[in-house]
Amino acid sequence: MTFLVHTYGCQMNVRDTEAVSMLLERHGLQPAATEAEADVLIVNSCSVRGKAEDKAIGKLGIMAATKRERPDRIVGVMGCMVQRLQTELFKRVDGLDFAVGPRRFARIPALLERVASGERHLLDIGIGDEDIESLAGHEEGAVTAFVNILLGCDRRCAYCIVPDVRGPEWSRPADGIIAEVNSLVRAGVKEVTLLGQSVMRYGLGNPVWSAMAPSSPRGYAEPFVRLLEAINDQTPLARLRFTSSHPSGCTAELAAAMRDLPAACPHLHLPLQSGSDPVLQRMRRGYTAASYLEALRRLRDAVPALAVTTDIIVGFPGETDDDFERTRECMEAAGFDNAFIFKYSPRPGTPAADWEDDVPEEEKRRRNQVLLEDQDRRGLRLNERLVGATLEVLAEGESQRNAERWSGRSDTNKIVIFEPEAGCSIGDLVKVRIERAMPQTLYGERQKVYSPQENREHKD
Ligand code: SAH
Ligand code: SF4
Ligand code: F3S
Repeated sequence: MTFLVHTYGCQMNVRDTEAVSMLLERHGLQPAATEAEADVLIVNSCSVRGKAEDKAIGKLGIMAATKRERPDRIVGVMGCMVQRLQTELFKRVDGLDFAVGPRRFARIPALLERVASGERHLLDIGIGDEDIESLAGHEEGAVTAFVNILLGCDRRCAYCIVPDVRGPEWSRPADGIIAEVNSLVRAGVKEVTLLGQSVMRYGLGNPVWSAMAPSSPRGYAEPFVRLLEAINDQTPLARLRFTSSHPSGCTAELAAAMRDLPAACPHLHLPLQSGSDPVLQRMRRGYTAASYLEALRRLRDAVPALAVTTDIIVGFPGETDDDFERTRECMEAAGFDNAFIFKYSPRPGTPAADWEDDVPEEEKRRRNQVLLEDQDRRGLRLNERLVGATLEVLAEGESQRNAERWSGRSDTNKIVIFEPEAGCSIGDLVKVRIERAMPQTLYGERQKVYSPQENREHKD
């Protein structure tokens, strides 16, 4: 049997698709080269905005319709939308065989066996028996990887469906994380991004050390910071990233760790959402524009090269022109290197869904466009400052647009297009002198290859 998973949504879903694919391969299924070929078709779904769900339902409908010609095909759906729509999915998608929620992926092989033996409309949702270690597999040959550290979310921002669909926070025990990072490094991975909705809450709920926490050589006390330290000290990983962050976790200790741990990359994804205090308060974000900027200042004082990216929602209920201008100002004051802008989409069951969605679609589109243009100008200005500088780039392979050039990411997570020299391999850390800047891309020559060890010493 061959399978194919079609993925919507965030990095967490990208990681979940990879984990499920590895699990299915361990159970004897083969990845299909094309969708037309696959015997098992799965959509990994996202619920964060209405459009994301529409796309997943549309895709499932197309996949399920092919069962008329090929009745043996199995069509399933996994991920966030399953937790929200549950059995309604079987009504909305004729021919859907199974649906499995985001904390139940380890059961997909068993569900497939039941479908193969004739059962239909199987729904497996719920939270509680976390089986994350059986989902620790990664594809071979990659030089970057995602690693889950924190499932679910307890913050309950007023607009967000994630806490409903991904359930309460649960921190993965540290031993499993460290073992996974070590095995990734042995397989050639140079850069790991730790994943969680609000990663700095790692270890605040359930215990994460199998015995007493090991002592922290640098005297750290916060569980998330201790995890960063343990990965830095107990694995030879070259580059460590994490996402997403929240200003409340941007403590002096985190700032010190980002400065002092050689593996920690000088990049932070710190969603702002809005720069207007009344809007932030209605969003229940737990900070003001000033305290957000203060958190950023703490980190920048420790790590001057820090690059910061963000998420913004435009058109939240009651967002006035004045609120919107505050967002523009705050984005400028924060000096974001990149920003993902989203138009507000009411999500059923969230507190904000009870408030009138009163910013017209056209105005949401306009605000979205204004912020994108602001960001392009700012991104270009910040990137132009890097012309002439030499950056450390992880070579990831040929550039999509031009095979004679390669593409990679700087430690600050900027896309860098460069000329490979003979002998440059995927996974090399190369020094690139920047010659030209665009709002989201840097262009340069290649200078020198560093081994990961040299790279860490170099940063020390
Ligand atoms: N946990 C992450 C974000 C997960 S969702 C965090 O807090 O950083 C990713 C982004 O989608 C959010 O940061 C937010 O900007 C956006 N988003 C979430 N709910 C939304 C909604 N109802 N409408 C529009 N955008 C939304
Ligand atoms: Fe959780 Fe808030 Fe992020 Fe939503 S936006 S996932 S509620 S931290
Ligand atoms: Fe979407 Fe779920 Fe991620 S709702 S953004 S796939 S956490």
